[in-house]
Amino acid sequence: MGALRIIFLVVSLLSAGSVVSAHNITAILSQFPEYSEFNSYLSQTKLSDEINSRETITVLVLNNGVVSSLAAKHPLSVVKSVLSLHILLDYYDNKKLHAISDGTTLSTTLYQTTGNSPGNVGFVNITDLKGGKVGFGSAVSGSKLDSSYTKSVKQIPYNISVLEINAPIIAPGILTAPAPSADVNITGLLEKAGCKTFVKLITDTGVLKVFQTAAEKGLTVFAPNDEAFKAAGVPDLSKLSNAELVALLQYHALATYTPKGSLKTTKDPISTLATNGAGKYDLTVETAGDSVTLDSGFSTSRVASTVLDSTPLCIFTVDNVLLPTELFGKSPSPAPSLSPETSPASSPAPAALSPEPAAAPSPFLSPPAPPTSSPTAGPAPSDGPTADSQNSNASNAVDSVKAPSVVHATFTLLVLIMSYVML
Ligand SMILES: *[C@@H]1O[C@H](CO)[C@@H](O)[C@H](O)[C@H]1NC(C)=O
Ligand SMILES: *[C@@H]1O[C@H](CO)[C@@H](O)[C@H](O)[C@H]1NC(C)=O
Ligand SMILES: *[C@@H]1O[C@H](CO)[C@@H](O)[C@H](O)[C@H]1NC(C)=O
Ligand SMILES: *[C@@H]1O[C@H](CO)[C@@H](O)[C@H](O)[C@H]1NC(C)=O
Ligand SMILES: *[C@@H]1O[C@H](CO)[C@@H](O)[C@H](O)[C@H]1NC(C)=O
Repeated sequence: MGALRIIFLVVSLLSAGSVVSAHNITAILSQFPEYSEFNSYLSQTKLSDEINSRETITVLVLNNGVVSSLAAKHPLSVVKSVLSLHILLDYYDNKKLHAISDGTTLSTTLYQTTGNSPGNVGFVNITDLKGGKVGFGSAVSGSKLDSSYTKSVKQIPYNISVLEINAPIIAPGILTAPAPSADVNITGLLEKAGCKTFVKLITDTGVLKVFQTAAEKGLTVFAPNDEAFKAAGVPDLSKLSNAELVALLQYHALATYTPKGSLKTTKDPISTLATNGAGKYDLTVETAGDSVTLDSGFSTSRVASTVLDSTPLCIFTVDNVLLPTELFGKSPSPAPSLSPETSPASSPAPAALSPEPAAAPSPFLSPPAPPTSSPTAGPAPSDGPTADSQNSNASNAVDSVKAPSVVHATFTLLVLIMSYVML
């Protein structure tokens, strides 16, 4: 009974935090062959995930001829920037277009959220012109309203609206931005972003070369910042074998271009560069509002900032070192059992490592107690589960597991009580 209630509680709390996709732009546009090119580029650039993860949005579509001539002249990164300017973070249908107060307004676009849009570059000017025409153009002053509204394509009020315009909206400088990924200096960017320790590790181990090779086709890096490596509970990396260290570092990257919008719509566990078999070294993604958290099954980390989002390369910083279960623990069960002895590996460390977004599983994650409550101040408790590493010390391992188990049992009890109160 109790266990069932806990499972129910955990499942309902977790699902409350995930994104409810109310619409699927790919499916909507697939009904209109004249926008198949636009649709295809939305998928290639993963802008479709961004659109699906947002609730109030307007997509200004262009027909195949217009998209083809744009894409023929520019790299994918530029096409993505241009298309981002066609995704308005507001809801406009035919009626609203013709009821703009004072006849003109500026709308924020998805391009504005990429962080590389100075001034008004990320805004679009919508102006209700004489004779029922509606003009669109860049909001940068001096820009012309070169695009006109032609027709309404599809509406799901007030979640998503698809409108057709006859020409692309181009902001000054957007077409001439250099195609980045080809010769992005990954280490330079990471150092600037405060990830010097990570840079040193990937350079020393040669993992950087793996990243650079992968970056040509698709790469997403989750780089822990320098503080993350100093945090309490991070295992002593010098105790890892070289192969383990390489696996740990490769665990911080995906062999696909996965920007934040795509992370938000990810439901299944994702493979990392360290994955060496089904279900091994994978990560699950939890989303709460705009906050994305990665869960290794052993520890969690918030995705802190986007250093670079440029198809096909994406670089994020994360708050914590991601500790794969394969190296640091035996798969902890999400629902804590009442007999702690049977699950000694159930996460002593993640507690200290996870500033979870307020929402759900905080009861499990809040005890940063283990290190202090353990009188044998010796190795961090997270060293315990690496029992198969030749360095580990049987007696220490037992000590370091015991204390967290007590705390663990206490919290299990607390959660039990909470769930009875709540249900
Ligand atoms: C609009 O989105 C909300 C929230 O995702 C959803 O509950 C609602 O059903 C959607 N409306 C329609 C008409 O699909
Ligand atoms: C959206 O629709 C496309 C095409 O119908 C489908 O392949 C895709 O799986 C859908 N995505 C989601 C998140 O449901
Ligand atoms: C939009 O552009 C037109 C034409 O350049 C300009 O007159 C108008 O002031 C602009 N609207 C806003 C809100 O800036
Ligand atoms: C990358 O940036 C780092 C630090 O800014 C610099 O030391 C290094 O020479 C750069 N590498 C290349 C290939 O430009
Ligand atoms: C194992 O324990 C012994 C005795 O307590 C100690 O001398 C040794 O350094 C420990 N080894 C490791 C790897 O912790």
